[in-house]
Amino acid sequence: MDSRPNIAIAIDGPAGSGKSTVAKRVAEELGFLYIDTGAMYRAITLKALRAGVDLDDMDALGEVAATASVELVAGPDRSLKVLLDQEDVTEEIRSPYISRSVSLAAKVPEVRKRLVELQQAMAKQGGVVMEGRDIGTVVLPDAQIKIYLIASPGERSRRRLKELSAKGYQIDRRQMEAEILERDQLDTTRKMGPLTPAPDALTIDCTYLSIEKVVELIIDRVSAGG
Ligand code: DC
Repeated sequence: MDSRPNIAIAIDGPAGSGKSTVAKRVAEELGFLYIDTGAMYRAITLKALRAGVDLDDMDALGEVAATASVELVAGPDRSLKVLLDQEDVTEEIRSPYISRSVSLAAKVPEVRKRLVELQQAMAKQGGVVMEGRDIGTVVLPDAQIKIYLIASPGERSRRRLKELSAKGYQIDRRQMEAEILERDQLDTTRKMGPLTPAPDALTIDCTYLSIEKVVELIIDRVSAGG
């Protein structure tokens, strides 16, 4: 029997704000399921690019999403594996070419509709930490805990560069900062599910806070009951 309590923690925020690291740690500490919704948008983008779909063609993107199987499964070491049509694409979806295109796929209403349904179904299992852009506002508006993480653009690009250089990608710092600002612009201005804090979210500025401190703040809030 599943012993996870029926609590949902929604963590939203822009690229590089520290969401993934924080969400993973919070899930680990509480024994909750960690769900990375950005990975799902990335998987759809990968499928579209592989099929040669024009990312301005909204109908074609909607069709890709409707026919794709996207699953998030916990690996043996508790890491999250992303399966696209049963293929493990965990590494490939993190490449810069996907990061540059994903905001285009994420603005398509049919893509969002399909992924939001999948995410809501996953959250029904209870005891989840779900991270993304529209979790507290659209996917789980009744989540007991809602967190909105922010950090300065300089700090966010520094973190992304560090992650990417660990994987062997060399990207110019200024180019990275420009890309992050462009994604912020696309993510905050789209019509459906834009990046914005839920009115009842706690906003935490992570520019100068350690990951441990942010995790502690969130766990304290869970212990206090929301
Ligand atoms: O968190 P990430 O960088 O892996 O997200 C990839 C993209 O997916 C990001 O540009 C915005 C989009 N996204 C979204 O629109 N809604 C979500 N819930 C999660 C991600």
